Amino acid sequence: MKIYRRVAALAIMTTLSGIAGGAEIIGAGPAEFEGRCAVCHGLQGRGDGPFAALLLRPPADLTRLAIANGGSFPAQRVRRTIDGREAVASHGPREMPIWGRELLVEYRRSSVGIGDPETYVRTRIEALVDHLRGLQQAP
Ligand code: HEC
Repeated sequence: MKIYRRVAALAIMTTLSGIAGGAEIIGAGPAEFEGRCAVCHGLQGRGDGPFAALLLRPPADLTRLAIANGGSFPAQRVRRTIDGREAVASHGPREMPIWGRELLVEYRRSSVGIGDPETYVRTRIEALVDHLRGLQQAP
């Protein structure tokens, strides 16, 4: 049964991503986070989203990234984790969607047409990184 619940969760999540992807404003970190990430990580990023219980691994508490990194926000690592394309090549599949790939597909399907696809992906990810930076608990 668990697998069906997970499939259902992913289906809903994909729908939510679609809604967020339709946002016209690039760089809208909070809206992007709410639409794409909060289902698992929770609205405040604490790892307590509604789908957290359906995952094999608990979604990370994203408010503690700086604390866990000795007090400084690990922007570069966060960027790469969100993108996920590199990690997949080296570590096999993961539960978190590979946002770099999702965003690329989204770019190709839509009429965004701003710059090249990789710039689009980077811009969207950067908005999320900025948002996460703002969620950090004081060390
Ligand atoms: C389907 C659930 C799910 C969604 C949606 C999701 N994540 Fe995750 N995320 C996880 C899980 C589970 C982990 C724990 C590590 C793993 O599975 O590889 C994680 C880990 C992370 C990490 C690594 C934390 C660390 O300790 O280094 C970051 C950063 C992150 N997620 C950001 C995001 C962002 C930003 C979004 C939205 C664009 C997002 N996640 C959407 C499930 C999700």
